[in-house]
Amino acid sequence: MYLTRDEERILAGEEGESCRKAMELVVALGKIYGAEDLIDITSAHLSGASYKTIGDGGLKYLEDMVKGGARVSVPSTLNPVGMDRERWKEMHISPAFAEKQLRIIDLYGRMGVMATCSCTPYLGDNVPSLGDHIAWAESSALSFVNSYIGARTNREGGPGALAAAILGKTANYGLHIDENRRPTVIIEAEIDGSVFSYSMLGQAVGMEIGGGIPYFRGIEPTVDDAKTMSAAMAASGSVALYHVEGVTPEAGNFDTSGLETIFIGKKELKGAYDRLNTAEDIQLIALGCPHLSPKEMKDIAAFLKGKKKKNQDIEIWFCTSAKVREDCAEEVRIMEEFGPVLADTCMVVAPIEGIFKRTGTNSAKAGNYLPTLCSQKVACRDISKLMEAVI
Ligand code: F3S
Repeated sequence: MYLTRDEERILAGEEGESCRKAMELVVALGKIYGAEDLIDITSAHLSGASYKTIGDGGLKYLEDMVKGGARVSVPSTLNPVGMDRERWKEMHISPAFAEKQLRIIDLYGRMGVMATCSCTPYLGDNVPSLGDHIAWAESSALSFVNSYIGARTNREGGPGALAAAILGKTANYGLHIDENRRPTVIIEAEIDGSVFSYSMLGQAVGMEIGGGIPYFRGIEPTVDDAKTMSAAMAASGSVALYHVEGVTPEAGNFDTSGLETIFIGKKELKGAYDRLNTAEDIQLIALGCPHLSPKEMKDIAAFLKGKKKKNQDIEIWFCTSAKVREDCAEEVRIMEEFGPVLADTCMVVAPIEGIFKRTGTNSAKAGNYLPTLCSQKVACRDISKLMEAVI
């Protein structure tokens, strides 16, 4: 693998211990995946921020990086953490958890990372452009920006994305290279066009193909549709890039003749729905996976306006970014009659397993992870159906 003289110097530790460690990791990943060299990146998005998922080992790793003088060198945002920084008590979080979580956020801040604590940085805080090389973790976000925007990132893990953020470089392989962005299968989709149908479509495609690069026909996803579909496909499969005919910026770049075509319609969507639904009488309704957009906040507030919460035994959490919560004050006022509008966190990376056993969500991604990461049984429905239990 070719390294410039400067990159060799960093690898030899001449820029300090944290830079050396970062270079060692990026070079090791590059060798594993056959990269010929490194490539400059314009931004990073980092996962590995919830104390629940990284634990004391992760906290110690971050402390060592900060002690070693680590600083990011490109704009870098942070994924959701295990609690709302301000309203963690409303989430039944213990003071011991809160203390460690706040330390993690502080450590990222000391490295120069913007503590946005959201999985939808592309809605405002960190928006790449077509053709930008970036190093993003968070499977839903990286799939969205790869596909809908045409930025270029591999499926980075937390430490790899942090290392790239420090160096401002990542290994040049995989989806950074034109040829590897070619579609591998055509999906003929027939859905009703609701956001929930996009979630089920993503679930069905991930279940059907696993990995690869699907090329969709028959759909016209908006930003919110693509947000939920990206998340679902990255969770039920490992899809990091897809194209949509007539919609996504790179769809016209490739010849699709000769590719296998898979049809996804009512039967496949029902299979996806059945896979995700394992509970009926839920204790928590958690919306906002990925984090709610301003448009989704508006839609939910319009749906709830004038209604009353009749079942007080079921909690409702709305998860979004701090910025969207701040920008949507009127919607927040209506939604708060039903449950807290939480920022910084989500139902999956928060430690809900000690509190709830059965959770309702409209997100296929949450539907995949709630059983495995939070020991939940799940009801995965569209918002109006979920809300029937409480209003
Ligand atoms: Fe975001 Fe949490 Fe879902 S990080 S994509 S809301 S699992």
